[in-house]
Amino acid sequence: MANTILVGAQWGDEGKGKIIDVLTEGADIVVRTQGGNNAGHTVFIGQKKYVLHLVPSGILREGKLCVIGNGVVVDPVSLVDEINGLTKLGIKVDGNLLISETAHLVFPYHRELDEQREILKGKNKIGTTKRGIGPAYGDKAARTGLRMIDLINAPRFELLLKQKIKENNEILKALGAAPLSFKKVHAAYRAAGDRLRPFVANTVVKLHEAARRKANILFEGAQGTFLDIDHGTYPFVTSSNTTAGGACTGSGVPPNRMDRVVAVMKAYTTRVGEGPLPTENAEIADLLHAMGREFGATTGRARRCGWFDAVATRHAAMVNGIDELAVTNVDGLDSLERIKVCEGYRCGSTRLEFVPNDIEVFSKCVPIYREFPGWNTPTTHAREWRHLPVKARSYLKAIAELTGAKLAIASVGPSREQTIFV
Ligand code: IMP
Repeated sequence: MANTILVGAQWGDEGKGKIIDVLTEGADIVVRTQGGNNAGHTVFIGQKKYVLHLVPSGILREGKLCVIGNGVVVDPVSLVDEINGLTKLGIKVDGNLLISETAHLVFPYHRELDEQREILKGKNKIGTTKRGIGPAYGDKAARTGLRMIDLINAPRFELLLKQKIKENNEILKALGAAPLSFKKVHAAYRAAGDRLRPFVANTVVKLHEAARRKANILFEGAQGTFLDIDHGTYPFVTSSNTTAGGACTGSGVPPNRMDRVVAVMKAYTTRVGEGPLPTENAEIADLLHAMGREFGATTGRARRCGWFDAVATRHAAMVNGIDELAVTNVDGLDSLERIKVCEGYRCGSTRLEFVPNDIEVFSKCVPIYREFPGWNTPTTHAREWRHLPVKARSYLKAIAELTGAKLAIASVGPSREQTIFV
């Protein structure tokens, strides 16, 4: 399989969890490199549904080593809950998970600040998951964050946490929020630290040792290209690099050790949270929601839905260097007579072929659509490319061509079997 970076080509929730699970079969190691428990990767195995937030999806297959890399922000209490939940479901989490000692920690004051900042922003809010992700990465960039290596050093942790709680309580009080109890936070985090200690390691060294042994490494991306802190629709983004480069900085594995980039995109577009979504459309949103689809795995929020936006995915192909595409949720379009695809934006009198950086300009972009005939036939039973209706094949080929990358996988349902290799 070689070393593969997997990214989302849209606004997150592209169905990466399922594709990661499929690709994991050929991997020895699966690494998370950015984000935190704002992510929610859903994987169906048989009738069982697993939702992973911080633990890499490789945990669901025996014999795979999972790594939470240095670029991830870890809420240790929530990670312990996730590990306990997996164990209860019969998934082994023992000796097959490593957590980088330099991964930064998320604390209750990050979550509280996240919430307070959203309140202050009012109608301009980002629509965050309120998991404290922005404030935690903020501390990392300001060089005032605490890391896993601090959590497992009891005396140092106590000292550092005392200072952080004192400082953040002043800020919380000024914002009108309740201050935090050092004692309570300390007790919960120390307990989580003790539980996580056996997993904490120098993951950069471990990954390089594995790469020397020619292990196949899968770098599983969280969120999507347009939520990237540098390349997304700023400020309506998350706080990490969700694009392919983030896999290198978030793991310590250099670019010349990466072999391919696989991008996942839906056959249409969705977004949770605020910010522009040029192809947003009530008809397709109502249809998908009525089918019980497109509700967030982390927050349960109904996702905003729209037609496929090829301007966006072309942009994603540019910044990620996409080698192969996996198109998911093809079956979501099964009942439509006509399907629209955005192939350009009209902005005033100008036609744009890329996503503009100015958020005000982007908000005013009007999609230029091409129409495709719908296949109006269920695709969920298709297991091979030739089983798909001709109109579905034409549609998939067209969106891959418009994106400018090779179509490798089409997914027609949540289970492993509903995966077509093209
Ligand atoms: P944050 O990452 O919680 O700060 O949220 C920032 C933006 O990213 C919001 O629009 C969230 O809805 C979005 N976001 C964060 N994580 C995910 C995800 O896993 N899927 C989809 N959107 C996400």
